[in-house]
Amino acid sequence: MSEIRLDGRVAIVTGAGRGLGREHALLLAGRGAQVVVNDVGDGDASGASPAQQVVDEIRAAGGAAVVDDTEVGTAEGADRIVDRATSTYGRLDILVNNAGILRDRSFAKMSAQEYEAVMQVHVGGTFWMSQAAWPVMTGQGYGRIVNTTSAAGLFGNFGQVNYAAAKAAIIGITRTLAIEGARSGIRVNAIEPGARTRMTENLLGDLADSLDPALVAPLVLWLGAQECEATGEVYNVGGGRVARVVVAQTRGLFARDLTGEQVRDAWTEINDESTATVVTDFRQEMAILTDLLGR
Ligand SMILES: NC(=O)c1ccc[n+]([C@@H]2O[C@H](COP(=O)([O-])OP(=O)(O)OC[C@H]3O[C@@H](n4cnc5c(N)ncnc54)[C@H](O)[C@@H]3O)[C@@H](O)[C@H]2O)c1
Repeated sequence: MSEIRLDGRVAIVTGAGRGLGREHALLLAGRGAQVVVNDVGDGDASGASPAQQVVDEIRAAGGAAVVDDTEVGTAEGADRIVDRATSTYGRLDILVNNAGILRDRSFAKMSAQEYEAVMQVHVGGTFWMSQAAWPVMTGQGYGRIVNTTSAAGLFGNFGQVNYAAAKAAIIGITRTLAIEGARSGIRVNAIEPGARTRMTENLLGDLADSLDPALVAPLVLWLGAQECEATGEVYNVGGGRVARVVVAQTRGLFARDLTGEQVRDAWTEINDESTATVVTDFRQEMAILTDLLGR
């Protein structure tokens, strides 16, 4: 079995001082990528920031890495981080948008600050980092972007309306950049991870022991590799499992002169998952309707 290699590739991993980002950075560097280890994290008593510790670890293992402590979430910050990659290593092939924060509170009590902080780091971070990387990647005719969504973004979660909104927005960004980047050789996907980190240590209960954050990075390695042509997809990953998350539609109801009563009377049929098919793009959805309309 051949090894996935990233020799000659340059990667940025945001929020790579701790948790999942740290594992992503270590694995990408271990496979030959030169890595910008970005994180705003505070230093410990020894003074070395978490990102610096990751860089030291990569270098000690013979890899190449450089630290960057810029906060993601603004256009200016994103330019600085991308510039760190291109000025240090001359290119940028892999962008892993991973940095994240939580500001959980029930919807009725959530403040504007809690909403905006989460939107800025997750949506702003992903949007501006990708936009700063875009001209470099389109210029090379090559790029891999791996975004980070969440179960909350797909299914919702109590006390996380800000985070759920941000993580759902990241799915929209992922699918749209996949479409816009296709002809420039840029592939864009999102992971929906589950792992024991500082962010989740009090949430996972009995499963925590099985959710080693190192079990998420292998998917990022594959999505970051040249051989992986997948794009616009979302993959659940955690505890050793990887699965594609799909959007499906039931066969549903079709009536040329649709009324509310017809919707009511066909409600079981409209909701019948046993008739569902996976829908991967807007054109496919339109084709189903075109067919029903007989046009
Ligand atoms: N751990 C899970 O089970 C889980 C589940 C779903 C989604 N996620 C997502 O995975 C990503 C990583 O989370 P984690 O669990 O490793 O959390 P973590 O708190 O361990 O790591 C997040 C890192 O991001 C850094 N960071 C925060 N704001 C930043 C900013 N503005 N700029 C740069 N760095 C910043 C932090 O300093 C920290 O090191 C996040 O996007 C999170 O929402 C995690």
